[in-house]
Amino acid sequence: MTVDYNTLAKTIAALTEGETDPVALMATVTCEVHHADDRFNWTGFYRVTEPGVLKIGPYQGGHGCLRIPFDKGVCGAAARTGEVQLVPDVDAFPGHIACASSTRSELVLPVFDGTGALIAVFDIDSDLPDAFTVADAEALGAILEQVFAQ
Ligand code: SME
Repeated sequence: MTVDYNTLAKTIAALTEGETDPVALMATVTCEVHHADDRFNWTGFYRVTEPGVLKIGPYQGGHGCLRIPFDKGVCGAAARTGEVQLVPDVDAFPGHIACASSTRSELVLPVFDGTGALIAVFDIDSDLPDAFTVADAEALGAILEQVFAQ
């Protein structure tokens, strides 16, 4: 299965219409994205729960690490810089945190609310090397903005 981002965006918009609870929104986005493409082996959010700290939120897949400081991992890099992290080979990323030994590539996007504040990062892992594209990052970024930055 390969994701159709137009359909995915419409499905998520319909499912989240009128909802403002961040956990309900994160759980719904995670479920729909995770089941949209065979490349996605772990999908989930890490929330900013205090300055400089990410804590796990809704996710699908195997075990996810519970706490990630901003100075650690791919998730920390996305939170610290506010920039998308597209990692074709996690073994080549200094400080990558291996919650699952099967992960080969990763995509992490910062998530902002309507005031522009960083509220979370959205993390997708794949067991395939070099699984993610710039088109994936752009389409997922648009969906996250549609859901969380209104
Ligand atoms: N690999 C991430 C940690 C989270 S797991 O992928 C679920 C990182 O390096 O930040």
